[in-house]
Amino acid sequence: MSTLDNTSLQLPKENPEAEDFLPLLGTDYIELYVGNAKQAAHYYMAAWGFQPLAYAGLETGLKDRVSYVLQQGKIRLVLTSPLKPGGEINKHIDAHGDGVKVIALWVDDAAKSYKETVDRGAKAYLAPKTIGDNEGEVVLSGIHTYGETVHIFVERKNYKGAFMPGYQVWNPFYRPSDVGLKYVDHIVGNVGWNEMNKWCEFYAKVMGFAQLVSFDDKDISTEYTALMSKVMSNGNGRIKFPINEPADGRKKSQIEEYIEFYNGAGVQHMALATDNIIETVTSLKNRGVEFLTVPSSYYDDVLDRVGHIDEDLLPLRELGILIDRDDEGYLLQIFTKPILDRPTMFIEIIQRKGAKSFGKGNFKALFEAIEREQKTRGTL
Ligand SMILES: [Fe+2]
Repeated sequence: MSTLDNTSLQLPKENPEAEDFLPLLGTDYIELYVGNAKQAAHYYMAAWGFQPLAYAGLETGLKDRVSYVLQQGKIRLVLTSPLKPGGEINKHIDAHGDGVKVIALWVDDAAKSYKETVDRGAKAYLAPKTIGDNEGEVVLSGIHTYGETVHIFVERKNYKGAFMPGYQVWNPFYRPSDVGLKYVDHIVGNVGWNEMNKWCEFYAKVMGFAQLVSFDDKDISTEYTALMSKVMSNGNGRIKFPINEPADGRKKSQIEEYIEFYNGAGVQHMALATDNIIETVTSLKNRGVEFLTVPSSYYDDVLDRVGHIDEDLLPLRELGILIDRDDEGYLLQIFTKPILDRPTMFIEIIQRKGAKSFGKGNFKALFEAIEREQKTRGTL
């Protein structure tokens, strides 16, 4: 894929404890199974500034499904809906609602990625297969991860088309401007009670990841909610997968609410990076995206906690953008309300100014905001 920079396969090692048997070059795409891909595509264009890229459906020879591919910066979304009843996609939507089915990972060798991971105990999803058209070839393979989510390994070094064979260029008249989203920063999985360590071990053993940080229920608890979280990352740090599990609290935690409505483990949020969070969030709000808000008291002493920042505090306060600092710098972040009718998936917008962490200092303010929302749903 020409828009992704494939010049340097010798990537600097960000996480020295991770192993290198599975070099991952980045997130290739995220595929959601949705009830109505045509309308979902319009939402991600109109509200989120994604650009139309490719399409597959009846017109390209598919009989049972349709997919729209959208892109912004290096972020690619694939939105897939069934065209007939009773199939695998229908069952996924029936169980989970709209949700992430595939976290696709960009690799140099999809057959090797499959062999290395399956040999280490991954459950096979897709044996390596080569697909081609007059733009070249793509090799795909895949393994299962938590819940019904899968990883597809995508090898595209011999392909120069828009997305992959089987898709045609999608070039509609409607092309709203983008909102400055650049790349996938991290993708978070929610798993069931006492399953966090199992899935962290999966990423360590099967994919060679190492743990970056962990948070326990003392870090992440409010009066009601509690959860545990560990962040797993690959060697070059381009792939970061925090894994959350519920912990005991006085009332139902946000992770339990997710598991109940998603009907199992799955992707809780994707964090999309921007270089200018004030501009990006202003655009998103103007286009109808709804964000969690924190009490304005959050801003009264936030600079005492995080020190000097380059941005004016006023627009951050007006937009509800949160600030946190670690040893290496600071970060700015904000979270949408759930973007679906089921209170399952949401999206984080993040701007890193040196910080490599995930906003631990904001957890309490954030989770109190989530609880206020849970309360309106009667699920706290
Ligand atoms: Fe996050």
